[in-house]
Amino acid sequence: MSLTIERDTLIKKWLKEAENMINESVNNELEIETKSDRSDFVTNMDRNIEEMLVKKIRAEYPNDKIVSEEGFGDDPTNIDMSEDTVWFLDPIDGTMNFVVQDENYCVMLAIYEKNVGIQSYILDVKKEKLYWAIKGKGVYCNDELLPKIKNASLRDGLFASNTKFLSDEIVGLNTEILKETLGIRNIGSAGLEAVEIAKGNTVLYITYGLNAWDIAPGIMMVQESGGTVKRFDEKPLNPLEKSALLMGTHAAVEDALQIIKNK
Ligand code: IPD
Ligand code: CA
Ligand code: CA
Repeated sequence: MSLTIERDTLIKKWLKEAENMINESVNNELEIETKSDRSDFVTNMDRNIEEMLVKKIRAEYPNDKIVSEEGFGDDPTNIDMSEDTVWFLDPIDGTMNFVVQDENYCVMLAIYEKNVGIQSYILDVKKEKLYWAIKGKGVYCNDELLPKIKNASLRDGLFASNTKFLSDEIVGLNTEILKETLGIRNIGSAGLEAVEIAKGNTVLYITYGLNAWDIAPGIMMVQESGGTVKRFDEKPLNPLEKSALLMGTHAAVEDALQIIKNK
């Protein structure tokens, strides 16, 4: 069995455990704390799932590096993206939705080898849909291979932006882009926004300086769906470097880059 298939089998088993942990927790009171500000939630489930997954990754692949949100992973300053095999882990992406809506959140994991995305997993717990991709094999939803996305332009599609949409420094740019599109959609989970592109539901998702665990799974999945991901400054991608990103169809990303350059 190849290393990729071996990891794929294990990851799907581990994600099932994460899903069970979340589903079994519905009867228990969620412990909710805030981190950087009053809307930056973390719960006991975020921590428990990350701890469980990190333990499993370390037991099977002790030489690999882990970048994760809640502190159980490695220090990113000791990671060399050009050499290491790196697991990016977001135990719950969309914690705000998890707490407030009880839907629209996901568990995400991606593996990069020498800065190339090899595997990506985005589990929509509530809808019981696991989106997953292996480099060169396309994107699947559970057992079904999704068709490659069409190369729709900004004019012919919907776009999404992360929650800083209305902040002073970017509202002007987002408005310019919005004018070109058919409209805006916003879920509040970077992972599920990437899934929307991979499904062909939106043509562009803009993120402004998200963390590596927020974007690494989505980047790999969008690329594998037939789309592309570019930095605003068009420098090479490195999930560990925080930067503004455009994820989407090739045409829509180019359209947005033109708007950015003309601004
Ligand atoms: C958040 C979500 C959200 C994005 C935030 C992220 P979290 O992740 O992906 O869509 O706008 O900036 O922090 O904190 O729920 O894992
Ligand atoms: Ca996240
Ligand atoms: Ca998270």
